[in-house]
Amino acid sequence: MKHTDIKEVFDKKAFGTSATVCGWVRTSRDSKNVAFLELNDGTSLKHLQIVLDKEKEFPEEAMKLGTSLKVTGEIVEGREGVPEINAAEIAVLGTCPADYPLQKKRHTLEFLRTMPHLRTRTNTFNAVLRVRSVLAEAIHEYFQARNYVYVNTPLITGSDCEGAGEMFQVTTIGYSNEYKNEEEYYANDFFGRRAGLSVSGQLEGEMAAMAMGKIYTFGPSFRAENSNTPKHLAEFWHMEPEIAFAELPDVIEVAEDLLKHVIGTVLEKCPAEMDFFDAHFEKGLKDRLKDLISHEFATVTYTEAIRLLKESGEDFVYPVEWGVDLQTEHERYISEKVFKRAVFVTDYPKEIKSFYMKQNPDGKTVAAVDLLVPGVGEIIGGSEREADYDKLIAAMKERGMNLDLYSDYLDLRKFGSVPHGGFGLGFERLVMYVTGVSNIRDVILFPRTVGSIR
Ligand code: 4AD
Repeated sequence: MKHTDIKEVFDKKAFGTSATVCGWVRTSRDSKNVAFLELNDGTSLKHLQIVLDKEKEFPEEAMKLGTSLKVTGEIVEGREGVPEINAAEIAVLGTCPADYPLQKKRHTLEFLRTMPHLRTRTNTFNAVLRVRSVLAEAIHEYFQARNYVYVNTPLITGSDCEGAGEMFQVTTIGYSNEYKNEEEYYANDFFGRRAGLSVSGQLEGEMAAMAMGKIYTFGPSFRAENSNTPKHLAEFWHMEPEIAFAELPDVIEVAEDLLKHVIGTVLEKCPAEMDFFDAHFEKGLKDRLKDLISHEFATVTYTEAIRLLKESGEDFVYPVEWGVDLQTEHERYISEKVFKRAVFVTDYPKEIKSFYMKQNPDGKTVAAVDLLVPGVGEIIGGSEREADYDKLIAAMKERGMNLDLYSDYLDLRKFGSVPHGGFGLGFERLVMYVTGVSNIRDVILFPRTVGSIR
């Protein structure tokens, strides 16, 4: 259907020319001689005003909220030089009855969550989805310009990367008593062994990096964790670079540089959307982001962070002791109250981190890094990897892991092992941080969370 994007009508301001636009009616208003419609086609956060001369015949349906239209007319200069269209012809593409759930008033995000298929037509989701798209493009742009190769790692996997037992099972047969034991059951299943949805593309990413040098993955990861919180999804988008010939400080440098690049890109390419979030979601958001990209991120070791938390005098719900995992309340205290900016926490106790992380000489900690940001908490998790075959085997044995399942991964340490590392960026957490939207369910098209799928 030949037509012009509404964004283009706004950008080009081709006054005096004729254009055909399509879209959904967002508002309508009648007056004595003319009627007004506001049309949105998703290409712009702004609605295009359509002016209807009541001396001409127009379909009555055109005035109804949610109706989809094709409008042809002259582009004219409206108030403050903003383009409008004087309608010459209006065709109704799809009618919309009065029980259309999205009315003129501002709906709450909770209410909108009950209609994921329609909430995309609100200004909030228009802005969220555009920022998401620009962030994704900026991620590719960053890595492509620096010789990284984009690889696609499998979603169905036989090994649990994080070793935390949070894998969704993939099966074509239901368990039944006819099998003597689990082993026999899995042997009869589709893959002939236990399989699940990948929690991370890291292990396969490492295999690609051991040939290509620098890679990144960008796809969905799945976690069957029973975390009904504003920052956990069962299916989230995960961006994971893996870098050969790199140690922990190199990994940290890439993480900081990448974040600054993608946030700078959004500020530049999405001014209207960022104004919208600043006005409706977090006052001062743009200043906060500009501040972030113009300052160095802080770095603190886990041990030091624990000391700061213990000396804070705060009454935390989860008590703090060396060896405990940091909870969101701790992460937010560190980034919001102590450093007041993004902070890398490094060198965590080995017991609370994954088997693959490089063991530090102290014998107690590993070369891990988490990036904590104000408002969200952890947004990035990464590490230098254990490149030593024997040390890796020892760590896996300590955790009671089945080494047979990881023989490919172990081979990397046998055949030309190199220092390497990488990190995982939770894409929705990044979108939350950049938009100021505080619930992860509101930054993805169809959120999948414990007890909820649609
Ligand atoms: O810290 P995580 O578990 O690290 C890994 O998966 C590593 N394999 C990454 C790597 O080194 N290549 O997860 C990385 C990030 C977290 O910091 C968080 O932003 C996001 O993934 N994340 C989630 N986002 C939404 N919902 C969940 N349930 C998430 N779990 C992790």
